[in-house]
This record gives sequence, structure tokens and C-alpha cells, in this order.
Amino acid sequence: MSNIQVNFNFTGYTLEELLQHTDVTTDVHKELEMEAREDGNFLGWLHLPSTYIKTEEYKKIKESAEKIRKDSDVLLVIGIGGSYLGARAVIEALHPTYFGPTDKKETQVIFVGNNLAPNYINDVINYVADKDFSINVISKSGTTTEPAIAFRIFKEIMYQKYDIKEARERIYVTTDAKKGALKKLADSDKYTTFVIPDNVGGRFSVLTPVGLLPIAVSGVNIDELMNGAIYAEEKYNDSLLQYNDCYQYAVLRNLYYDNGKNMEILATYEPRMHYFAEWWKQLFGESEGKENKGLFPVSVEFTTDLHSLGQYIQEGQRIMFETVLNFAKTETDITIRPDEDNLDNLNYLAGKKLSYVNQKAMEGTVTAHADGGVPNIIINIRELNAKNIGELIYFFEKACATSAKLLEVDPFNQPGVEKYKTNMFKLLKKPGYEDK
Ligand code: PA5
Repeated sequence: MSNIQVNFNFTGYTLEELLQHTDVTTDVHKELEMEAREDGNFLGWLHLPSTYIKTEEYKKIKESAEKIRKDSDVLLVIGIGGSYLGARAVIEALHPTYFGPTDKKETQVIFVGNNLAPNYINDVINYVADKDFSINVISKSGTTTEPAIAFRIFKEIMYQKYDIKEARERIYVTTDAKKGALKKLADSDKYTTFVIPDNVGGRFSVLTPVGLLPIAVSGVNIDELMNGAIYAEEKYNDSLLQYNDCYQYAVLRNLYYDNGKNMEILATYEPRMHYFAEWWKQLFGESEGKENKGLFPVSVEFTTDLHSLGQYIQEGQRIMFETVLNFAKTETDITIRPDEDNLDNLNYLAGKKLSYVNQKAMEGTVTAHADGGVPNIIINIRELNAKNIGELIYFFEKACATSAKLLEVDPFNQPGVEKYKTNMFKLLKKPGYEDK
């Protein structure tokens, strides 16, 4: 049974209006299926969950995760963009906020190589100094500057700390099967390697070793995560718009865009979803923002941001709509207790659960924003667990590819990302960039 339902009641559109777009989504459905069957396209993720779980590589991920959990206090995950955000999104969603090795068996997953900031990298160097650690360096191209620099730094620390055999056994490389500097390094030093499938691009790669190894090391049950994604693969494979919430969401985004909404806000009332929103922003931002088109994806955490951005959303420019992630049940709860003096005037809430108050804040906000001209799409999720996160990941991946096709842009390239790199390399005098 699906634990995720989309509520379209506050979108400003009726189902009949959405269903007028049935032909076009059926065409996109066929196009995605056809492209997934042909080589050379980036649609490997479309039917990956159901097939990948049966592979030897999947078993190897679990074995390596077990080894790391036994011999390391910390796993340093080195990567950026699609080689970083998915793992962090899932790990932070599924662990307590101040997750740490409370029990010696837990291995903490720490991310580096996702910036060039000396303070951050020095903080990580200091943090691992007295700890046993392993490294998982992740880069599909194997040439990205930020993770390459971090790997050089932490590899040296690793080789100083352990003898050469042990150092090599503590380094795990996730990269292309054949190409790139990282692949060469892995072959020459005989690191354990994992392959990022050719036909899966960075931001669609969380359910490959890119995300699965760090996620498994953190203690999340990756079978459950994959089962949620497998369920979604089947559920959102219905070619008919009427039965496919994922396609309806993609259609709605484009209707808003065509009617002057330039921004989609992903709103969550669960701070553990902060990095999930970061992953979502990259997925949609890099897939759709090109050819001078695309919704600008932003995110808010409510109720926190109701006290910062709430004013703008309620009464500022009417350029946005919201997609709300609403968890019906929380893992833990708190009952508000009565107070004899009631000086804080909160006794009207005595006996109520905090989750109930949060829920009412959500309901009040949705109607306030919808009444104020900011339509809301609500994604109701029964609870925050690995299976539902797996389903949600697949939902957004498929919605993103569909939405980009409706927008008539290529969801799988990112030509604009090169521009800053060229300028930076020229300024850094990288050989070959002098005349660019
Ligand atoms: O989605 C993408 O393709 C990008 O965000 C990449 O993941 C990111 O640039 C990192 O690239 P790489 O994995 O080649 O180091």
C-alpha cells in the first residue's frame, strides 16, 4: 500500500482541468520508456531499483558497509552535487538530529569535498584526528575539483595514520567503470571500487552506490529504502495521468510556470528533511534551469521560516507556489503538560501532542497561503521511514524528468555548470585554460 498521497485540494485546479493534459503526459511516458531502452541516454535510474537490488554490486555495498561499521568511527564521504546530496538527505532524514556515535558500533558519516572552504576542511581534519576513519570518495567524472582536492588532503592523512595496506583497505572509490583520474588512482592503489552506471547522471544517482554505501554505513536499512523505490517504480509507471500522481504533479508545475509562477517552494515541517530539500533543489534546479526557462526551486522549514519568509510568502510578489511535505505521524512525540499558574497562557494546549500543534500550524498555513494567492500541493506521507523516503526519492526523480520534458528541456545535462569552472581554472592558471 502506498504511504504517500498527493492532495490537490489547494492547487486551484480541478482534476478535470489537469486531465486535459493526458495526451501529452502519455507521450512523455512513452518517450521516457523508449529512451530508457536505448543506449546512450541518462535514463538508467528509471527501472534501476527493481534490478539493482539483485546485483552482486548491491551485495558488495552491504559487505563493505559492514566492514566500515566494524573498523571505523567515522566514514568521510568526499563528493559534491549529485555525488553528495542524496546520501546526506537520506541519512539526515532518518537519524536523530544530533546523530552521533552514542554507541560504539555506530559509524558517523561526515561529508567533505562539497566546498573549498579552509575552515570547514580544517574542522573535519581536527575532528577525525583521534578517530579511526574510512573514506568513500565519490565522483562520476573523477575530475571534479572540490572532491579531488579533499581526497588529496585526506588520503595523505590516511596514509600517515595507517600502514599502507590498511590505508588502502580503508579507501572506497565510487566512480565510472572506465574513465577519469579517480578510476586511474583506484586501479593503481587497488582500492575497493563501486561503479556509477553510465546511464545514470549525478543527481539521479542516490539509489546507486553513490548514495547506498554511505547510507548503509549510517545504519539505515537500504533494503527498505530500495523497497520503497521499487514500489514507486511500479506505482508511478501508470501511463494514464488520471492514476499517476507523479505525472499530475509534473503537469501542475508546468501550469503554474505558464501562468507566471516562477518559483516553487518545497515546504517541510520536519527539520530532519533539510537536506532532502537541498537534494530536491539540485534535482529540479539543474534539470530544468536552462535555455532561460525553469521554475526556481527554493525551500523553507516551517514553522521556523514562517517567522522569516512567511510575510513575503503571504503578501509579497505572487510569483510562487508551494509543495508541502506533510508527515502524518512522527517517530517521537511530546505531550504539553498543564501548568497551575498558566502565566504563559498555554493551558488551552494542555494534554495536546506537539505533533498535533505542528499539524494545525501546517493546516492553517496552507489555507492562509492558498487564500493569499500561493497555491499549495500537499504530499502526505504516512511517516518518516526508509521505505517512504525511497518512494519519495523515486517520485521526485520521475516527476522531475517528466516535468522537464513537458518544459521541453533536456533534464539530464547541465551545460551552465561549466562556465564558473572555466573562469576559475583560468584564474588558477590551470594548464590548457590560459586562452579561454
Ligand atoms: O548532477 C550532476 O551531474 C552534478 O551535480 C554532479 O553530480 C556534480 O557536478 C559532481 O560531479 P562528479 O560526480 O563528476 O564529481
